[in-house]
Amino acid sequence: MSQPASVARLMGGRKVVRIVFEAEQIRRRVRELGEEIGRAYPEGELLVLGLLKGSFIFLGDLVREIPRPLQVDFLVASSYGDATVSSGHVRLVYDPETRLEGKHILLVEDIIDTGRTLYRLLELLSARNPKSLEICALLDKQLSGDVLKKRARFVGFEAPLEFLVGYGLDHAEDFRHLPFVASLAE
Ligand code: IMP
Ligand code: MG
Repeated sequence: MSQPASVARLMGGRKVVRIVFEAEQIRRRVRELGEEIGRAYPEGELLVLGLLKGSFIFLGDLVREIPRPLQVDFLVASSYGDATVSSGHVRLVYDPETRLEGKHILLVEDIIDTGRTLYRLLELLSARNPKSLEICALLDKQLSGDVLKKRARFVGFEAPLEFLVGYGLDHAEDFRHLPFVASLAE
């Protein structure tokens, strides 16, 4: 695929296979998700918990589209073992300082692949007696059926089974700043 000069400049010469979700398409979908989330929580305290680092751009855009009072905090989870394959052993490196008990918790994730990371986090967080606990993911590869008993309630897009970067998603910490989501050429 030939790349527009602006994309080539952003990528530092690295090629993308294709842009999977354009910036404008993401903007429209995030707006819809915000409205949907607003309607889903007619009452109660809402705490939006962003899973760092991948969710940082999505979270920033999403919370501005949720038309109700809410709080924002973050989680930093670390998987032990293999860096490329999610091992399922997760611990919290940064734990939210905010109280979770009695609040609606919306856990915001960039992409769900196997679902192992989220599965462990849900266990950890549900032990703190939130009023409800739901997942919002920008992208879902839809492979997590067996692992995640609880599916993401809010999903931006079904993702192709390719390695995606941009809009928060990285490859070895690169490409998080792309305003679109792209499939990376090896
Ligand atoms: P899971 O535990 O297998 O669901 O993995 C989820 C995590 O793996 C996400 O939070 C991402 O950080 C990372 N990940 C999974 N698929 C991709 C991808 O296509 N691009 C970038 N990161 C990914
Ligand atoms: Mg990552």
